[in-house]
Amino acid sequence: MAFRTLDDMTFAGKVALVRVDINVPVENGQVTDTTRIDRIMPTLRHIIEAGGKAVLLAHFGRPKGKVVASMSLAQVVPALEAALGRPVAHAPDCIGAMAKRAVSEMAPGDLLLLENTRFHPGEEKNDPELAASMAALGDVYVNDAFSAAHRAHASTEGIARQLPSCAGRLMEAELKALQAALGNPMRPVAAVVGGAKVSSKLELLSNLITRVDHLIIGGGMANTFLAAQGLAVGKSLAEHDMADTARAIVQQAKGSGCTIHLPSDIVVAREFAAHAAHQTLPADQCPEDSMILDAGPETVAAINALLADCRTLIWNGPLGAFEIAPFDSATNACAREAARLTAAGTLVSVAGGGDTVAALNRAGAADSFSYISTAGGAFLEWMEGKTLPGVAALET
Ligand code: 3PG
Repeated sequence: MAFRTLDDMTFAGKVALVRVDINVPVENGQVTDTTRIDRIMPTLRHIIEAGGKAVLLAHFGRPKGKVVASMSLAQVVPALEAALGRPVAHAPDCIGAMAKRAVSEMAPGDLLLLENTRFHPGEEKNDPELAASMAALGDVYVNDAFSAAHRAHASTEGIARQLPSCAGRLMEAELKALQAALGNPMRPVAAVVGGAKVSSKLELLSNLITRVDHLIIGGGMANTFLAAQGLAVGKSLAEHDMADTARAIVQQAKGSGCTIHLPSDIVVAREFAAHAAHQTLPADQCPEDSMILDAGPETVAAINALLADCRTLIWNGPLGAFEIAPFDSATNACAREAARLTAAGTLVSVAGGGDTVAALNRAGAADSFSYISTAGGAFLEWMEGKTLPGVAALET
């Protein structure tokens, strides 16, 4: 995949329209996790230090083409200013007279955040007119929003076709890391896939079994696979109607040289609650009145031994009910071992997707992973082998 980067562009005196993803969690008007903001700083600093004017295009939430006050990007301005250590202006629209005036008032090195692109119905429809109105505000387009690149929207796809375009530093880093993990990885490659439902990760599993040597399945998804093998799973979260699909995936994996690993022992409890009374049992002995909430120590030891033999790991989803102790044990132990092996230089580890980053942070393992993606849905779609429209539009 060939695309221009910031190094291929000049910014002095130019207006750079920078698509960022600052769709960050906000509680009581305060940004509670600034990761996405912190990760766009190298791009913004590069542009303003080069004497460019950085005009940020972004979405926030899902206002569905209407102006929704609670989804105004104005609330993100203080966190942006804190990260940058300089003022950031805000315009109440991303096109039109008010946006134009705000851009015209900028001096080189200034930053301006335009209002939520999704306040316009044309954004999600990838309306070329909306894209043209945004493009008219600038000279060049920089896409630093990998985590929104699975959306073919006017500010992520259409606009890239109307201006000289390039990838920002975060986009570049995401693509490099993902290429190292699945594109042309060092083998053997293992993937950890957890989470609640097989049905929501069907395409992901089908793609991974053709790409990785070992597929480690955890969380509620593992219960579905255990049940499909005829094992009792009691009251566990499991999709019994997916049994045929689970069996077909196991069969296909055999044909493509991928070994699927399921828990050999389980931690069960009668209620889903922190510190609920629990016991560890072989995977085929889940009592009728209990639910599987984590993988057991024998499974953890087997996963950790496997990771020691692997060179690349891609991780999406927790191995158990990681939000409540002690059912976070398997996730914590395997994440920490992956972090240790990465720090020791024997493993390239890449993780992404909603709960995954929270789980790795809880385990204290995230900092040692080779790369943590800022993306949720885009990470999943990329792992499914799909072309991301926002990335494709940057290809030269
Ligand atoms: C995300 O938070 O994953 C991105 O900002 C994309 O948001 P969306 O799922 O609302 O398109």
